[in-house]
Amino acid sequence: MDDQKAGLLEKIRQQFDTAPYPRVPLERSPKGEVQNLYIHDLVTPYYVRNQQVVNPAGKVILDAGCGSGYKSLILAEANPGAKIVGIDLSEESVKLARERLKYHGFENTEFHALTIEELPSLGMEFDYINCDEVLYLLTDPVVGLQAMKSVLKPDGIIRANFHSRLQRAVFHQAQEFFTLMGLMDNSPNEAELTAVRDIMRSLKDGVLIKSRTWNPAYDTDDQRLLANHLLRGDKGVNIPEFFAILQAANLEFISMVNWWQWNLIELFKDFTELPVEVAFTLADKTPEEQLHLFELLHPYHRLLDVWCGHPGQGKPYAPVDDWSESQWQEGTVYINSQLKTDAFKQELVSCISEFKLFEISQYLQKTDTPINVDNLIASCLLLLLEQPRPVQAIVHHWKTLRPLNPVTLQPTTEEEAFETVKQRLIELEHQGYVMLEAA
Ligand SMILES: C[S@@+](CC[C@H](N)C(=O)[O-])C[C@H]1O[C@@H](n2cnc3c(N)ncnc32)[C@H](O)[C@@H]1O
Repeated sequence: MDDQKAGLLEKIRQQFDTAPYPRVPLERSPKGEVQNLYIHDLVTPYYVRNQQVVNPAGKVILDAGCGSGYKSLILAEANPGAKIVGIDLSEESVKLARERLKYHGFENTEFHALTIEELPSLGMEFDYINCDEVLYLLTDPVVGLQAMKSVLKPDGIIRANFHSRLQRAVFHQAQEFFTLMGLMDNSPNEAELTAVRDIMRSLKDGVLIKSRTWNPAYDTDDQRLLANHLLRGDKGVNIPEFFAILQAANLEFISMVNWWQWNLIELFKDFTELPVEVAFTLADKTPEEQLHLFELLHPYHRLLDVWCGHPGQGKPYAPVDDWSESQWQEGTVYINSQLKTDAFKQELVSCISEFKLFEISQYLQKTDTPINVDNLIASCLLLLLEQPRPVQAIVHHWKTLRPLNPVTLQPTTEEEAFETVKQRLIELEHQGYVMLEAA
């Protein structure tokens, strides 16, 4: 490593030794943070890649650049029975992470002060690697990804993210400005934080760097300021650049982690009335091109957050929309295990008892428009909370609940029950609430 890169690494280490990230109290538990647990659950990316539901027990998970360990704790909660290994450049962060998992009763853990680039020296292999909010700090992200790939099992999955250059441009400008002001020469502390606040206060409100990056929270929240205006080594990329980095590291893109928030069609008022140029052009676009078009129209996401893995390791499967009759007949339904909470069950029971719609979109994937399920499907979900069930059993349950067609008063046919349940399961599968496994 050349002197400049080594110097930057040292400054990053100092910054995170002085202010380990995130500053979350030791006692705070992520239990109940359903969306957070959902995106740290390795079952989801395995399912997205292979349409198979794996058991997290016994899996080995690495939190690469674990910081003060709050995400390591989420990984432990979201993946019962998995071993959690955390590494970070900053010794102080590692100490906090180790203490945090112990405090919350997780024993099957290991934490090491180590850089991502040094990972092979651990002599371990991982089923899942979480590298959250770190890649943009690495002097060479390709080298970092290659190091992670070298310790990834053949069917393993890496989650990694970069800051979006388009969404984050003003913060990169602010960082450059404060670097030129000499505020990034040493590890930023009290004096630098005060200087940034003084400068911002003295700027006219209409100056763009102020109007676009400043709000009252920065007056008191040191961590927020350090993670934005004074973040050292911060870099951004756009979608083609991120894909080029993945390719250089010989990693295969699997999906965006928040894939439901990257749907280009959703940016249009009415997807049935797309402008003809758009409708024609979209049909031929690769997933990468579609994501790039999305970010050009709507650079909304701070993070470009992806799952990737060794090339060619995904198991081929048909999307559920294209399943054959026999796949449906023999398929099994699982409810997403992050929904197996007392709060979810209580709300479900109360909606069923009171004949109310159940607003399922409060859980897992945040969406702008609420997604509701009716009473009959809510009752099927209740059944699934107990254990996975054959599709046939769900159809049977639905038909028992609705023996007559309420319009014609004719008995519900097997076919009608099957078609209705099938359509509902397809919707719920797309939204991540259930997973469907073919026999
Ligand atoms: C913004 S924090 C993110 C912490 C944690 N992943 C989270 O999302 O809460 C970045 C972390 O990456 C660590 N880091 C930066 N460069 C690293 C490297 N080359 N190897 C290992 N850790 C690194 C820093 O020490 C810091 O703890």
